[in-house]
Amino acid sequence: MKIVSVVGARPQFVKLAPIHKAAVGAGIDHVIVHTGQHYDPMLSDVFFEDLGIGTPHVHLGVGSGSHGVQTGAMLAALDGVFDEHQPDWVLVYGDTNSTVAAALSAVKMHIPVAHLEAGLRSFNRRMPEEHNRVMTDHAADLLLAPTQVAVDHLAAEGLAERTVLVGDVMTDVLFEVRDQVGSAPSVLLEELGLSRGGYYLATIHRAENTDDPARLADIAVALAELDRPVVLLAHPRVVAKAAAHGIQLSQGSLIAHAPLAYPDLISAALSSAGVVTDSGGLQKEAFLLRVPCTTVRTETEWVETVELGWNVLANNAAEITAAVSRPAPAQTDAAPYGDGHAAERVVQVLSARQR
Ligand code: UD1
Repeated sequence: MKIVSVVGARPQFVKLAPIHKAAVGAGIDHVIVHTGQHYDPMLSDVFFEDLGIGTPHVHLGVGSGSHGVQTGAMLAALDGVFDEHQPDWVLVYGDTNSTVAAALSAVKMHIPVAHLEAGLRSFNRRMPEEHNRVMTDHAADLLLAPTQVAVDHLAAEGLAERTVLVGDVMTDVLFEVRDQVGSAPSVLLEELGLSRGGYYLATIHRAENTDDPARLADIAVALAELDRPVVLLAHPRVVAKAAAHGIQLSQGSLIAHAPLAYPDLISAALSSAGVVTDSGGLQKEAFLLRVPCTTVRTETEWVETVELGWNVLANNAAEITAAVSRPAPAQTDAAPYGDGHAAERVVQVLSARQR
């Protein structure tokens, strides 16, 4: 059996790692296509290296652009790749422009498409990710859902028959990396002179937080006024937007830092007093590591983290301050994101349904 996985952005490389391992373990011919949506080494190459994925078999080199230009360039390039490889399945991941481009290209070529991380919804139609995931779910032949909540969303949209609950592959990789990094202190501690539990870890990159200068300035000030150092792992998007609008990303408690490789990120989150983010992946990683999280958004797809008390939504400066200083949540042994074996299940489901 042959599977072509199409990835392009940082969180997809993390999800790809356990799938690649499980596919290779099952003797499947697994072809990795990198669209080139993310191209900075710290957003791309380090994930392939650190997570043992090797090198992508095909690199489309699409790069940055407006949604239409970027997605269109991927579409134009993918037809030839799928034609050459004739896979049994095209596997697409998450909710980026690379996801929707690959799903659309494959479905038009009558190649079965499976969507990993299907069924997540924010119900916020302003988000590019929401467009991407809704369109991908409705185009795909097989919907691999990470949670029961995602299964229920798909059922409500009439997609129950195509849906299989497999668990969350990010749990697979997170547990493995957590065990590898163990209790070793984060690289940030020595570099920035921080103490364990003496800082917060932050990431802000989503369009809704970065593209409006007043909103970005408000978030930066809120973080700068927190009671401990806040290490902002700054995605190129937030660096570019802050520079364009004269917003300081290092001020008060706030320290801008380059993005970290995945094992370093996990170790930095583990040593922190809390996480402040708008990333979907990091909200969940914080929960799985049992580190309190504050999410700078009006809603989240990962509602279980909020319901269990480990994540609080904060949508303005006052809410951020209040959420970060809240008391520690009650411990829980709930496991809404699966048992760390989702990727093996994905490979089994794809093998059982090959055409
Ligand atoms: C993309 C995804 C988002 C995901 C995020 C993970 C879409 C619509 N968005 O957002 O869902 O959470 O990846 O990081 O697909 N840039 C660089 N170097 C790079 C990549 C980007 O400098 O390697 C800069 C460019 O200025 C680019 C901007 O970041 O225009 C935005 O990049 P893009 O890939 O369009 O979206 P992300 O914000 O990364």
